[in-house]
Amino acid sequence: MKYRIGRVLISEGQLREKVKELGAQIREDYKGEKVIFVCVLKGAVIFFADLLREMGPEVDAQFDFLAISSYGASTVSSGIVKIQEDLSTDIHGENVIIVEDILDTGLSLSYISKLLRERAPKSLEICVLLDKEERRTQPVNVKYTGFKIPDEFVIGYGLDYAGHFRHLPSVHIAEPAE
Ligand code: XMP
Ligand code: MG
Repeated sequence: MKYRIGRVLISEGQLREKVKELGAQIREDYKGEKVIFVCVLKGAVIFFADLLREMGPEVDAQFDFLAISSYGASTVSSGIVKIQEDLSTDIHGENVIIVEDILDTGLSLSYISKLLRERAPKSLEICVLLDKEERRTQPVNVKYTGFKIPDEFVIGYGLDYAGHFRHLPSVHIAEPAE
């Protein structure tokens, strides 16, 4: 099935406001500390860039990237998570915050956090923009959540359908198109 851009679920203005709010919280929690922010590619990249600009000089923020695959060109998870590109930083003894676009079943983030925890960081937290809470099958401990959303497939602000629509500045519902 093909999808097209449906109605706006979260506007640019709402996203901006929430990113500022989350940024302020993280900045306060990690003032004067070094943090390695891990962007989960590709969906989190726009949120990541906006969020990190909120850290200011108070946080010694560093970037790293992790690419995983679980969905392929579908809107339904394959149930299999694979690391496609690992971090290039040694996170042993470091504060780490994983930044992800969306938490759905919890499979991806529980896999990623287990993997990173084995590397013995000083601290490990998760920040997600969107949470489809009712879909959860794997428990995941998230410290920073942007919006709880209903069980709809969403696109825009980094989120895609088969690689399309990531560039849209708002979050939209993806509408089935025959
Ligand atoms: P799990 O089920 O592992 O899913 O928590 C997290 C990953 O699933 C993708 N996902 C979506 N991607 N619109 C998207 O573009 C959605 O509505 C959606 N729901 C889940 C996403 O890649 C995330 O990393
Ligand atoms: Mg993703």
